[in-house]
Amino acid sequence: MIRAARADELERLRGIELAAGEIFRSLGMDAIAEDEPLTVTELALFQTRGGALVFTDASDVPVAYLLLERLDGNAHVEQLSVHPSHARRGLGSELLDNAEKWAQAEGLEWLTLTTFRDVPWNAPYYRRLGFEELEPDMLDDGLRGILECETLVGLSRWPRIAMRRRVEPHSAGAASVSLY
Ligand SMILES: CC(C)(COP(=O)(O)OP(=O)(O)OC[C@H]1O[C@@H](n2cnc3c(N)ncnc32)[C@H](O)[C@@H]1OP(=O)(O)O)[C@@H](O)C(=O)NCCC(=O)NCCS
Repeated sequence: MIRAARADELERLRGIELAAGEIFRSLGMDAIAEDEPLTVTELALFQTRGGALVFTDASDVPVAYLLLERLDGNAHVEQLSVHPSHARRGLGSELLDNAEKWAQAEGLEWLTLTTFRDVPWNAPYYRRLGFEELEPDMLDDGLRGILECETLVGLSRWPRIAMRRRVEPHSAGAASVSLY
């Protein structure tokens, strides 16, 4: 099930990100696997505003999560991580759909994110889920700022891009999160 994260689960979310990141070693991107996850304090900034969504197992323990914030007047996905024990079962896609329901309820037009262009489970995955690449001249200030920060911290050693998916105006069901 998908629900908002609780404060006492933030350390677990860090563990999910570390475990999920291991797969980058298979592409020689060890620096990404070793990248320190967001701190509990940084995660709390999302969680306290309702922008941390978790997918839980049958025991209500988080096995995947998505961080969401408002950026440039859109709903921006800051992070999506699925524990390898639960990969490739549609959890990532369901979390994105739920983020979209929130954006729809808020009347926002786009779901946005930044990601690695050439990593199979990044841009090509999002493209299959309906995201399109944003060319540099289409970027608003917030997204441009994120890409610039990513360059500063060395992430763009492997090409990074911004992507967006239009928020469907009539998708059914209520969001499991309420942000702000
Ligand atoms: C990317 C990620 C969130 C996908 O979550 P998921 O729940 O496993 O994905 P879904 O079940 O919704 O979709 C599965 C599809 O993702 C893609 N995918 C997932 N893992 C993959 C892999 N190891 N290699 C290639 N494609 C992969 C494939 O298209 C796959 O479809 P298939 O199983 O039919 O081939 C997850 O793999 C993850 O946490 N990766 C590490 C962290 C990361 O890269 N996060 C995104 C940062 S922008």
